[in-house]
Amino acid sequence: MSTAVALIGAEGRMGRYCDQLLEDHPDFHIVCRVTSDQDLAAELAQVESGIGLDFTRAGLGREHGRVLLQAGVRPLIGTSGMQPADDLFLHELALESGLGGLVVPNFSLGVWLQQKLSLLAAKHMGQVEIQEEHHIHKTDAPSGTALDTALQLSEALGRPCDQIPIHSVRLPGLYSNQTVLFGAPGQILRLTHETYGQKAFGPGIIAALHYVAQAPPGVQRGIGHALEND
Ligand SMILES: NC(=O)c1ccc[n+]([C@@H]2O[C@H](COP(=O)([O-])OP(=O)(O)OC[C@H]3O[C@@H](n4cnc5c(N)ncnc54)[C@H](OP(=O)(O)O)[C@@H]3O)[C@@H](O)[C@H]2O)c1
Repeated sequence: MSTAVALIGAEGRMGRYCDQLLEDHPDFHIVCRVTSDQDLAAELAQVESGIGLDFTRAGLGREHGRVLLQAGVRPLIGTSGMQPADDLFLHELALESGLGGLVVPNFSLGVWLQQKLSLLAAKHMGQVEIQEEHHIHKTDAPSGTALDTALQLSEALGRPCDQIPIHSVRLPGLYSNQTVLFGAPGQILRLTHETYGQKAFGPGIIAALHYVAQAPPGVQRGIGHALEND
């Protein structure tokens, strides 16, 4: 059976990409496309949606997750800017609602692997900084991916997150890159991931939709929940 998806941020770069991605997909179909001039709760009330896929403006994920859960819709939040406290807020609401959901700061397989490799490297090289580079239309800095990478490293290193420096570059010509640099006397290890377009996110978005459709109550963080359950 195909799961109904509410696409929030439908006219943005990621929204338009998801529209194409789900066109003719056997397992998912879009039942509502929400734009910035519409009220999310009112739009959700008009259709039956199983999952709400949010790609809007950094910082809106918590509020949209709340509205989705209160409408009985499972949230899949791809929008940047979700903090651990926002995850927890949605997690508790999801437990009360008996719905599963997921927050995914980056859907690409390569970034997921970069983060896993970074945690391995951090065990041996504790001096680490992150450089993220994005197109000039990106409104938030640092990127949600860089903040998520710093959070994972800070937990692994037992160090406050703000002690992992993040350098943000915004230039024409760039799409989305991230390098995690580890330094030790006489050597540097660079773990670089480069993204050349939205296609990098497609397989992760599909895997996450499959995960969220069946997820147990609660809201988890990270594409690993979807990829490691495959
Ligand atoms: N998780 C990932 O792997 C991943 C990958 C790429 C991007 N992202 C993140 O996803 C978000 C969207 O990225 P993008 O490149 O698609 O940005 P974008 O092109 O700026 O699109 C965002 C869209 O959301 C709309 N919007 C703003 N507020 C809204 C609201 N309350 N309800 C419905 N729509 C609303 C905007 O409309 P207006 O223009 O009218 O304001 C715009 O059409 C960003 O936070 C970005 O950092 C995440």
